[in-house]
This record gives sequence, structure tokens and C-alpha cells, in this order.
Amino acid sequence: MYIIKKIETLYKKIIILKKTNKKIGLVPTMGNLHDGHIKLILLAKKHVDIIIVSIFINPMQFNNLSDLENYPQTFRADCQILKEQNVDIIFVPYVSQIYPNGIKKQTFVEVPKLSEILEGQSRPGHFKGVTTIVSKLFNFIQPDFAFFGEKDYQQLLIIKMLVKELNYMINIISLPIIRLKNGLALSSRNNNLTNQENKIAPYLYKVIKATCKKIKKRKSYSRKEIIYSSRILLIKKGFSIDIFNIYNSKTLKNPSKNVKEVILLASVWLGKTRLIDNKKIFFN
Ligand code: PAF
Repeated sequence: MYIIKKIETLYKKIIILKKTNKKIGLVPTMGNLHDGHIKLILLAKKHVDIIIVSIFINPMQFNNLSDLENYPQTFRADCQILKEQNVDIIFVPYVSQIYPNGIKKQTFVEVPKLSEILEGQSRPGHFKGVTTIVSKLFNFIQPDFAFFGEKDYQQLLIIKMLVKELNYMINIISLPIIRLKNGLALSSRNNNLTNQENKIAPYLYKVIKATCKKIKKRKSYSRKEIIYSSRILLIKKGFSIDIFNIYNSKTLKNPSKNVKEVILLASVWLGKTRLIDNKKIFFN
């Protein structure tokens, strides 16, 4: 396993790899790897010959300095995990290489509209940071495939749009949310939960599941009423709600009555931790 820190070294390696005609897969991460990342790597193994995992805590996508400062850094443990998974290359660049002129002067890539709503409204500039770093990684590595989790559902749609509209020849493969037995979606941010919050957090998915079931049944209550009562339940449990609603799963706009597939998106705070989760609802 190679650990590459410099872009120039990575370029040289990629040139050699490209000559071998082997399929290259990129798993972009911000480190603090958990089971969800391991599942992404296992998924990547089914599609490609060479796996490159990037670890970069991207300052451009944090709209809040304390969030960036508190982001867990576990490079040694991450390397151990990646070694056990037989990853070929870890790319772990310095911030100064990625943003040599600073973030404010950085040329950026932005997917309009989709980046401005929901998470984008709550975290201004966040998706601009994501699409800029992901474009840079795509340019450095020129992967055939790139792998992303479905927990960050809006991010996934935005990246698919980026690939389509900027004509990247990259297949985007997504991995369904990986959960603990109690239903809590795996996330690096779960490490910030206190013991008490850890007991409450799984309640989010319980409410999501129950809400989706009721909406699918479409019995006596309207969607609005169902969502409203689920929000109240969550608030009573101690969550504060940023997003908890259903959307058209392709556009993230309000779903029309006869659409066949919607998604419930949840973005809530539990103490100082932002938890996000989602579940699709399919109508017959
Ligand atoms: O989902 C993430 O971990 C990050 O947003 C990503 C895609 C690695 C870009 O920094």
C-alpha cells in the first residue's frame, strides 16, 4: 500500500497505472473511517482493479470553523483499516497543495440550484466545497469509478449532476446506508454523541421508518399531518429539527401526488451533533 502526500507523486503513479489498462476506483473520504467506509471499499473491489482512498478533511466544505476544528482526525487508525482492506493507494494531500492560494481565492465548481436547497441552505457554501474538492480528486486520479454513500443523499445527487454536466467519464456507484443494529446510520459524527445522546439517536431511524410506513399506507391522515406528528415525536425526544420532510427523490422538490418514488430526508441536531438520514418510499 502506498501512502501518497504529494500531487506530483500521485500524477506519476496514475500515469503508470493508466498504461496497465487496469480499472481505477476512487473512494473519497475525510478519514475517521468506519464500517460504512469499509463496505464502500468492498463494493469498489467488485468493480475495479486498483483502489485509491483519499483522506482529506476539506476545509472548503465546512461553513463553521469549530465544526472543522472538531472533526475527528484518526490517520493512524485509518491507515491500519485501509492496510487490512488491501487498498492500493492512500492519497492524503496537504491543505496547502489543494488550495495553494487559500480558499477565498480558489476557483470553484458549483452545481447550481440543487446545491442551494435543503442542506445547502442550512450550510451555505458546503456543496460548493464538496464539488470543488471532488472535481480536483477526479482530475488528479481520473478514476473509472467513484464510490459514495447514500446517507449524504443530496451530496450524491449533486455529484451525479456534476459528472453529467462536466462530462466526466466516471461511473458513480452508491452504497446504501450502513446502520448499527439499533438503526443508527453510521457516521464519523456519531463519535461526538454523549452516552445519553447515544441512547436517543437510534430513535431517529425508528421515527423515519414509522413515518414512511404511514405515508405509504395513505390511510386517513394527510402526508402533512403525518410529518407534523413525527416532528413532534422527535422534538419530544430531544432532537431539534432542521429538515424532516418528503421530497421527489430525483429533484428534491416537493413531490407531486402521483410520483412513484419519494424520499424522506432528515437532518436533525442532537445536542451539538448534526445527524442526517433518509429513506425512500415507493408507491405501487
Ligand atoms: O462525504 C464526504 O466524506 C465528503 O463530503 C467528500 C465526498 C469526501 C468530499 O470531501
